[in-house]
Amino acid sequence: MTTHLKIDEPDHRNRLDHMAQGTLGAPLDRPEGPLKVTGTATYADEWPVEGLCHGVLVRASTDKGRVTAVGREAVEALPGVLAVVTDERFLRNPAQGMAGAAPAQGPDRIAYFGQPVALVVAETFEQARHGAETLQIAFDRSDDAVLDLESDRAAVDVPPGKQASQGDLDRAMREAVHAVDVTYRTPGHVSAAMEPHAAIATWDDGLLTLRGSYQMLRFNRLELADSLNIEPDRVRILSPYVGGGFGSKLGISPEAVAAAIAAERLGRPVSVALTRPQVFEGTTHRSETRQRIRLAADAEGRLVGIGHEALVGNLPGEVFAEPVTQATPFVYRGEHRVVGLSVARLDRTCAGSVRAPGEAVGHTALESAMDELAVATGLDPVELRRRNIPEEDPSSGLPFSSHTMRRCLDHGAEAFGWHRRKAEPGSVRDGEWLIGMGMASAVRVNMVVEARARVRLTADGRAEVETDMTDIGTGTYAILTQIASEMLGLPMDRVETRLGDTDLPSGSGSGGSFGASSTGTAVYLACEALRRDLCARLACEEEDLTLKDGMAIAGDRRVALTDLLGGQTLTEEGHVEAGETSKKVRQATYGAYFAEVAVNAVTGETRVRRMHGTFTAGRILNAKTARSQCLGAMVFGIGMALTEELLFDPRHGHIVNHDFAEYHLPVNADVPQIEVDLLEERDAWANPMQAKGIGELGICGAGAAILNAVYNACGVRVRDLPATPDKIL
Ligand code: MOS
Repeated sequence: MTTHLKIDEPDHRNRLDHMAQGTLGAPLDRPEGPLKVTGTATYADEWPVEGLCHGVLVRASTDKGRVTAVGREAVEALPGVLAVVTDERFLRNPAQGMAGAAPAQGPDRIAYFGQPVALVVAETFEQARHGAETLQIAFDRSDDAVLDLESDRAAVDVPPGKQASQGDLDRAMREAVHAVDVTYRTPGHVSAAMEPHAAIATWDDGLLTLRGSYQMLRFNRLELADSLNIEPDRVRILSPYVGGGFGSKLGISPEAVAAAIAAERLGRPVSVALTRPQVFEGTTHRSETRQRIRLAADAEGRLVGIGHEALVGNLPGEVFAEPVTQATPFVYRGEHRVVGLSVARLDRTCAGSVRAPGEAVGHTALESAMDELAVATGLDPVELRRRNIPEEDPSSGLPFSSHTMRRCLDHGAEAFGWHRRKAEPGSVRDGEWLIGMGMASAVRVNMVVEARARVRLTADGRAEVETDMTDIGTGTYAILTQIASEMLGLPMDRVETRLGDTDLPSGSGSGGSFGASSTGTAVYLACEALRRDLCARLACEEEDLTLKDGMAIAGDRRVALTDLLGGQTLTEEGHVEAGETSKKVRQATYGAYFAEVAVNAVTGETRVRRMHGTFTAGRILNAKTARSQCLGAMVFGIGMALTEELLFDPRHGHIVNHDFAEYHLPVNADVPQIEVDLLEERDAWANPMQAKGIGELGICGAGAAILNAVYNACGVRVRDLPATPDKIL
């Protein structure tokens, strides 16, 4: 049986607080952890597949243009080479996956430098790589490519759904006691998942099995079928382990399409693994942004107006546009408001979701501008934010489902020791280091998306959880196991969770911080149905049933689940969908960051000395994995503030720093002691678990706390991220 739930109303029952097992919320280890640390978890390119041959992609070495000739014969004559595969389906959508709704470009059209054009397949990886390096492809380059976000020649779309205006912001700015009108720029970013994209394709009787590394299998199956022009029921995708996604694996990418085409043509399994430079240019990246921010405040620092107008880029026809202003409509008060997003059409590698698309860069810029307003008003930055927390969504008038920013600000300020900060920049010195403190708020929209899961209570008193949901390193195996363990009163080791197989019920996938709450709710619903089944067998009311350690307890009766099941296995499915909640309440997660930095007065180098994050996300499902998410997120904040920046060659638009030696993610030596406090919250509007997403919250604004600390340290306001030494000196 399937239990459906459309989330339309708050659920105040709060059942999980009354369960007896005590596993949910606890800081438990990942059940699959030992497999990962012993190297026995099978990642995409690690499956032992009989008769496997290897493909290496060859990419366009021109920007916008056309392929005129492929020197196939010379390469096909090389030892071990089986085929040079070209196929217009390679070029159909530049991004192939979720980000790639672009119309067909035509058989020989190249949309951007680095686009995959051909696949060389050989018996060994080395032979394929040699073939790929040898392959000569001739191109015609068109001379009208637009490669710069702010180029006058760029066609700029202004999508109607992304613009909003209320009141009269221009007038509010003119009449404001304190006004800030500043432009921030953020560079391109890459997701930088540790596991490069890879796929192994196998055809069997007209059915494709693709072992890959993807975040959203339900959609990935449809995308792959669409890219190949076949029916989705001929495609199965397996992604039981994913070595990080961070947005770059939301959609399928070229390795999947190329492997599938080559495997079909050769009648053999084909593996295609991208190199790091191919990941940088052949999958998606975050667009640069230009953001004009206007803040109009009264004498007490209360905002009367906010303007946030952003320009982002993407390929012509792509629907994705970095949603920079996503939280701006509701995060602070102010009756006059302009929110706008424009998209410049660029002939460069495709832009898509990277680590908290939208607020990651949008709220970071807004929170930097808020720091500028704090300086203008002479108010303490924490107090400025406190004064601007709205009572209700100032754009829609909707109530908030729950609002925790003030609690987070107060808790974080206290825990960090914010009162020790000196407001005057340059006041604290430690040798040649200038010391500063900064803060910022965190905000991220929250949503539930459709998800299904099946839970089986087996005759021997164990449970099996099944969904095509993925675990991209976030802790999905752990939390889904915990939900079933808690609901069914079974120790963790008596629950097995199977993920990452499109043959299983469709989960939400991992993305947008909705995975845990959405797929978790599907598991919860299936377990709730199982509890009802058990009540029927025990002839008791649901409120009277306690399940713990494999025993069912009701009144003075205590029965082992195995006896209650009497040799039978019970199976239930849960199915959750988003209802009209977003028309009734505004729902988000909140937090606060505090950072202390040291800026070298001689070299301009910034070191983060310590960082503190306070977050709320409704019920926390696993205190350890939730904390880890926040730690990783804040590290990305350090990257955004100080080191991460894609550099595009102005001549062809290719990415110059396309590896981890030159695209600088913060490494251990860059990351100080980070503390994370998760405050209790229950959001009844979220779902029956009262849990919200936390994955991306800790990125949204984290970089601003550091940039604001840099200003406090040395008086330099960096509005063009990242704050590299040259911008500080
Ligand atoms: Mo995320 S950037 O929605 O994987």
